[in-house]
Amino acid sequence: MTTAHRTRAIAGILAAVLAASIVAQTQSGASEPAVSPDAPPTVVITGANRGLGLEFARQFSAAGFEVIGTARRPDEADDLRSLGVRIEQLDVTDARSVEQFAAAIGDHPVDILVNNAGIGGRVLSIEDLDAERVRRIFEVNCLGPMRVTQAMLPALRAGDRKLIVNITSLLGSIERNTRGGYYGYRESKAALNMFTRSLAVELDPEGFTCIVMNPGWVRTGLGGPGARLSPAESIGAMITVIDGLKPADSGAFFSHDGERVPW
Ligand SMILES: NC(=O)c1ccc[n+]([C@@H]2O[C@H](COP(=O)([O-])OP(=O)(O)OC[C@H]3O[C@@H](n4cnc5c(N)ncnc54)[C@H](OP(=O)(O)O)[C@@H]3O)[C@@H](O)[C@H]2O)c1
Repeated sequence: MTTAHRTRAIAGILAAVLAASIVAQTQSGASEPAVSPDAPPTVVITGANRGLGLEFARQFSAAGFEVIGTARRPDEADDLRSLGVRIEQLDVTDARSVEQFAAAIGDHPVDILVNNAGIGGRVLSIEDLDAERVRRIFEVNCLGPMRVTQAMLPALRAGDRKLIVNITSLLGSIERNTRGGYYGYRESKAALNMFTRSLAVELDPEGFTCIVMNPGWVRTGLGGPGARLSPAESIGAMITVIDGLKPADSGAFFSHDGERVPW
């Protein structure tokens, strides 16, 4: 995808968010807008200090979003800081950290939540399974997004777009699992998928759109240097898909290029 395509796609999100804001104001008959038409939409991205999270922050920021990027160690998040975005401390496995993060956001409306933070696991044989390692993977990849989503609900309800994007993996697809292995990682993402589907059903009456997205195989710390896609390619494609989401898409499993992935 070209830079021009990406810019147009993100501009579409901006236009949609701002249009929704103005329509909401008109319908409510409010004399003072709840959100200024000039206020940029806000996106929260977890695990934004490196890898895909950092690229999400870069592209959303370039498109004019207010980006709130989280890092476990904000003092060390130099690349994220260089983007000039707001940085908040967040360890998704630590309930107290999640609580403090939500308090820091307060009643600031959040339009999009990207639950991106995750860890890998390359256990290929049941013989090598370490239950404690699996527990840790579940803590980060599944319980983490559940905690953060719950804590962010008031801010998301105050936002216009009401969009939750949970970053999953093709390895979380049961139907596409023809090679086995990756114990712990596959299960954690399949559980995240199920969480997202339940969330989509529960929050549908409130106008939320909740999806899972597979970013493809990407050259990051997790994906490794031999992966097929650059972070810029993966995130550019994902933002195009996010831009085109309709309410009927809620509860779906998408790949970075918009392909529907079987559960
Ligand atoms: N790269 C791929 O090919 C690929 C493929 C499929 C799915 N994914 C998914 O894409 C997402 C991003 O992966 P990536 O490739 O960007 O990985 P990455 O480069 O390893 O980055 C992972 C990010 O998650 C953060 N993180 C880890 N544990 C955390 C915790 N307990 N609390 C908060 N943040 C935590 C890391 O922070 P620290 O720097 O503090 O560790 C880092 O910012 C993950 O959900 C992953 O499963 C990636």
